[in-house]
Amino acid sequence: MPTALSTVDRETMHQLFEGRHTTNLFSDGEVDLDLIERAYADARWAPTSMNSQPMRLTVLKPGARREAVVEHFKGDNSRKTSAAPMTVVVAYDPAWHEHMPTLFPHVEGLREKFAERVEFREKMGRDNAFLQAGYFILALRAHGLDVGPMAGLDAPGVDAEVHAETGWKTLMVLNVGHGPSDHEDAQYPRGARFDFTEAALVL
Ligand SMILES: Cc1cc2nc3c(=O)[nH]c(=O)nc-3n(C[C@H](O)[C@H](O)[C@H](O)COP(=O)(O)O)c2cc1C
Repeated sequence: MPTALSTVDRETMHQLFEGRHTTNLFSDGEVDLDLIERAYADARWAPTSMNSQPMRLTVLKPGARREAVVEHFKGDNSRKTSAAPMTVVVAYDPAWHEHMPTLFPHVEGLREKFAERVEFREKMGRDNAFLQAGYFILALRAHGLDVGPMAGLDAPGVDAEVHAETGWKTLMVLNVGHGPSDHEDAQYPRGARFDFTEAALVL
């Protein structure tokens, strides 16, 4: 019989969820790439459909390349991103099925089966990469980073800047840093959250 795991303590849960806000403007501290790598190394173990792991990341340090990317952002998102210590573009790989022999080896023929089902592949890649993005945001928080996710952007424009060779498709960007700045716009006022009884049906 496997031993029952102990539950995560309340303080840790608070640090990951209720105690944290989305961050729009960050304090000045730089972000070590190693922390992003460590957050990914943890988040990759969370489940995806058939272990497909379609999420791909493009890390943008401050500089000319990131400035070219923010040209494709909507409204205030470009200004916020230009001021962030580090930015991660979260995308999915439409060719995720190519890796199925390694990622899901106990079922044969998945690569060939999905090669022909382009629409299904797009949807599954997108859905599962979004799922992975959620895991990754929480892993970044667990490694002490604050995160500002943004989907208000022209994804094909971003892809033309950074994914021309890989064919990956942008879903959102995550701005990452150490804590919010003390500017009043650094965090949104907290919006309400649904209670379980409002969000769930128990049948
Ligand atoms: C997928 C996704 C897309 C988002 N897009 C944007 C965006 O384009 N611009 C922006 O300023 N905030 C964006 N946000 C931030 C949300 O508005 C914010 O996480 C939410 O209001 C909760 O805020 P809180 O963490 O302060 O409670 C996005 C968040 C997510 C998860």
